[in-house]
Amino acid sequence: MRIALGSDHAGYSLKKCIKEFLEGTSFSVGDFGAQNAEDPYDYPNAAFSVGEKVARGDFDLGILICGTGIGMVMAANKIPGVRAALAYDEDTARFARRHNNANILGMGGRKTDCNSGIKIVKEWLYSEFEGGRHLARTEKIKAFENSHSRCAVRKESPRLVTFDHPLIQHKLGMIRDKNTSVKVFRELVQEIAGLMVFETTRNLPLEPVEVETPITKTTAFSLSGKKVAIIPILRAGLGMVDGILQLIPNAKVGHIGLYRDPETLEPVEYYCKLPGDIGERDIIIVDPMLATGGSASAAIDLVKRRGGMKISLLCLIAAPEGVSKVHEKHPDVDIFAAAIDSHLNDHGYIVPGLGDAGDRLFGTR
Ligand code: PRP
Ligand code: URA
Repeated sequence: MRIALGSDHAGYSLKKCIKEFLEGTSFSVGDFGAQNAEDPYDYPNAAFSVGEKVARGDFDLGILICGTGIGMVMAANKIPGVRAALAYDEDTARFARRHNNANILGMGGRKTDCNSGIKIVKEWLYSEFEGGRHLARTEKIKAFENSHSRCAVRKESPRLVTFDHPLIQHKLGMIRDKNTSVKVFRELVQEIAGLMVFETTRNLPLEPVEVETPITKTTAFSLSGKKVAIIPILRAGLGMVDGILQLIPNAKVGHIGLYRDPETLEPVEYYCKLPGDIGERDIIIVDPMLATGGSASAAIDLVKRRGGMKISLLCLIAAPEGVSKVHEKHPDVDIFAAAIDSHLNDHGYIVPGLGDAGDRLFGTR
């Protein structure tokens, strides 16, 4: 089990002691600041960093410590999927887990000493969620959170996200229609890809920058230098690239040529050209269709063999079979899909799907 730790300066000493304790167990630990007890470190930085990692499934649980623990818990609970609970003793820690299924434990570095802190952490880690009536209550919180989510994205599982946004769903309905022309199909695929990336980049890190407006000096924000690579799977993935480049114009573009053998449905590779610094980039592999998952898995294999590490897969329509295959072969890859359809037909086409995406984009048949 992976545990993410975070503190501000006031929680640093207790975090250090909890970290030493956890490193002597079978848990694996990630530490996301603060780096020392002397320099002031704003608690929301650690709360958001740890909260997002737990919500995304990169870590199973998180522990956040500031002076009282209160600010940490307030900040972390802003992140959909986080259930952060403050505990000052073993009793509250036990119930935070058994009744509330807290996935983040908040503690007060100025309220709790090292020995008590370890006891609290042990109690929380080794208690189990009771489910039953408590599950119904945590599900109510989840349903409220989903209905008030501003992101219009839905986490189906730790590594599968779908999109509720009405514009995405409306345009998706149009490309499913067999009477939609090639021209309109092409435009809509670009638009949907752009809208999806707009949502997936919601959490890109920002840094403050000083700018001078015609009126006065002010602090504004700038993206803090994430490098992105977009990799379409040819042919159909090409149809999504321009829509994404409109939002991330500095992204580099690699290409992977794969086609599905019509008899075996196995992917056949015919081209691969990736940016030289692929290992340093956030990689988005794009393809409108995730059917058996053969093409996407082979593309991810290729990218990994060339040094790619942080990979996500963006597709318009996915079949459950394809999602399972990619999850099984590449459990580290996030899948973003505008829709998860019902199943594959005997020819490996997605039902209801939209037919052959490449043919519909390029007017071939
Ligand atoms: C389509 C689609 C995917 C693949 C999905 O490409 O664009 O790449 O099928 O199927 P899978 O999940 O079962 O592998 P296709 O092989 O038709 O090639 P094309 O894009 O050149 O038309
Ligand atoms: N490839 C497509 O283009 N469509 C499908 O439904 C399956 C694979």
